[in-house]
Amino acid sequence: MTWGLFQILMISFFHLIELSSQKETRFVYENFRSQDNLYLDGSATVLPSGLLQLTNALHHQMAHVFYKESIGLSSSKPLSFSTHFVCALVPQPGAEGGHGMAFVVSPSMDFSHAESTRYLGIFNVSKNGSPSSHVLAVELDTIWNPDFEDIDHNHVGIDVNSPLSVGIASASYYSDIKGKNESINLLIGNPLQVWVDYEGNMLNVSMAPCEVQKPSRPLLSQHINLSDIFPNRRLFVGFSAATGTAISYQYILSWSFSTSRGSLQRLDISRLPEVPHPRSEHKNLSPLFIVLLGFLAIMGLCTLTGMYIFRRSKYAEVTEAWEEEFGAHRFSYKSLYKATKGFNKDGFLGRGGFGEVYRGNLFSNREIAVKRMSHDGDQGVKQFVAEVVSMRCLKHRNLVPLLGYCRRKHEFLLVSEYMPNGSLDEHLFDYQKPVLSWPQRLVIVKGIASALCYLHTGADQVVLHRDIKASNIMLDADFNGRLGDFGMASFHDHGGFSDSTCAVGTIGYMAPDILHMGASTRTDVYAFGVFMVEVACGRRPVEPQLQLEKRILIEWVCDCWKRGSLLDATDPRLRGKFLSDEVEMVMKLGLLCSNTVPESRPTMEQVVLYLNKNLPLPDFSPYTVGISNHSSVLIDAASLVASRSWSAASSANNSP
Ligand SMILES: *[C@@H]1O[C@H](CO)[C@@H](O)[C@H](O)[C@H]1NC(C)=O
Ligand SMILES: *[C@@H]1O[C@H](CO)[C@@H](O)[C@H](O)[C@H]1NC(C)=O
Ligand SMILES: *[C@@H]1O[C@H](CO)[C@@H](O)[C@H](O)[C@H]1NC(C)=O
Ligand SMILES: *[C@@H]1O[C@H](CO)[C@@H](O)[C@H](O)[C@H]1NC(C)=O
Repeated sequence: MTWGLFQILMISFFHLIELSSQKETRFVYENFRSQDNLYLDGSATVLPSGLLQLTNALHHQMAHVFYKESIGLSSSKPLSFSTHFVCALVPQPGAEGGHGMAFVVSPSMDFSHAESTRYLGIFNVSKNGSPSSHVLAVELDTIWNPDFEDIDHNHVGIDVNSPLSVGIASASYYSDIKGKNESINLLIGNPLQVWVDYEGNMLNVSMAPCEVQKPSRPLLSQHINLSDIFPNRRLFVGFSAATGTAISYQYILSWSFSTSRGSLQRLDISRLPEVPHPRSEHKNLSPLFIVLLGFLAIMGLCTLTGMYIFRRSKYAEVTEAWEEEFGAHRFSYKSLYKATKGFNKDGFLGRGGFGEVYRGNLFSNREIAVKRMSHDGDQGVKQFVAEVVSMRCLKHRNLVPLLGYCRRKHEFLLVSEYMPNGSLDEHLFDYQKPVLSWPQRLVIVKGIASALCYLHTGADQVVLHRDIKASNIMLDADFNGRLGDFGMASFHDHGGFSDSTCAVGTIGYMAPDILHMGASTRTDVYAFGVFMVEVACGRRPVEPQLQLEKRILIEWVCDCWKRGSLLDATDPRLRGKFLSDEVEMVMKLGLLCSNTVPESRPTMEQVVLYLNKNLPLPDFSPYTVGISNHSSVLIDAASLVASRSWSAASSANNSP
């Protein structure tokens, strides 16, 4: 009784087991973010995107992924299954892709004995073809192995216990739309759909690109009795993949499986995880590299632009249309900048009332002096340039040759020939320098007189120098005096002086009448007179540190003359080495020229005649009107400006 009950219980228990084992197995992985019921080994891993990566691009890898639960087989019901998966085989750019992957049906998940490369992680050498292997594989093979009778390096095969396929075909699909086979490149890197169906001893394999429906005709249709291969009732389904020296990234994107064809769940192709595509080797470096390259390019561009702007502003000039006619006389700022080595202080020659003078080397063979003068605004610029150009046309052996000019914003540059012996005042007042002998001085005075005479009468226009003084007399290599620095010169038509509003010059050389009547040839003569006395006496026209009676040179010379000892005023550095009548003549002529009565002054033509002794000096004494009391205005003017500068331009309008 008990035994019978037990038997009944046992029978129903086994029946239960049988029932449960006949239970349909069905699952779907839209992606692999959830790895429930999955067994992974080898290089298999799930990426954050939900992508199941079987192999990466390393050599000799193997990977297995199995659904952990066995699919039930029963003797009563014939084995059948259907599966649909999406995979992607992504080769490393520039490298041969391989070896491939397979859908695997096996009674065991243990493939530790298997090998990679062409055995796809499923088989090994010794097990080749052995019926004891109990493996069914549907391979996507991307390597051509003649040993295994492969047809090409892009095929699909059905393997039973051996990599030697029982059914094989080049990867392709039957296009229902076109009505013909379309080949598929397994290594294209894009997702591919694969269907494996087994029912009634027929194993069909189909594949298609993602955008294509399951083809109506399978790629492979093979008669196989799986009950022969798997006597065991427990079976596992999954994937295997391997790399060798040939490598590919091999992915499963999604997977649906069912033991009953009718209940296979469809995969939503539109929701597949993204397949990453590796960049080629050098492009792999590229994010950083490109950023670096871009940065360098931008830096380079900025530097170039900066340099360009800097150079432009550095060498910027101001040119206006009216200057075109003077083009030939214009120097580029760049050439002057280079000639003076960037206005280097080594080439600094001196500072005048209107600017600094630099020595330069134009085209490395011509020595020039460049005077930089600052100016504000555009007022008088045009006239100034015109005058500069006019001056360039002045030719006299006792003028410093003016070569041209350059104009920038707030700056004028005058280019003249370089005078190797500097200015006369250095030689007169710098006791470090050798003393200029009297004959030398006389040559200089005669030269300057001749030049001034030329300016007043010899040129197309009357040119007033307006700033005759020792420091504006340059000495050439032969110690000839050359009148230079036309910074204040003005041009007038013969016969009339239109511009007389501006009184310029240097204190001590300025005629009293300049304040009331403006500059004229007579004021130039006055300054020249002071200059002559200056050369003979070796003394500046005004020396405020001396005692009162000696302070004003001309007045003092006059006093000496009154005392009957005119030669007392002679430059002591000459040590008496001079011809008395010559020195006396120069001094007296100087006093005559600096007469306070403008009309009593000789013209420069007369001065030249006197100096060359072609004409005797007129009869006059220190008591003659205009000779004796000539300096009162001068003292006033001097005391006004003396404290500030000895070389200044003052406007008659502003002067009280
Ligand atoms: C092949 O696999 C079998 C087990 O199936 C194992 O006994 C054998 O050693 C393997 N051969 C090699 C060469 O690994
Ligand atoms: C296999 O394909 C053939 C046609 O080629 C078809 O008749 C058969 O039903 C298919 N079997 C399965 C299991 O899909
Ligand atoms: C299409 O491919 C299948 C399987 O490889 C083959 O049997 C069939 O002959 C091919 N058809 C054409 C038209 O090439
Ligand atoms: C398949 O093989 C099994 C076991 O070897 C056998 O019993 C069965 O009859 C075979 N089926 C067919 C259709 O050949």
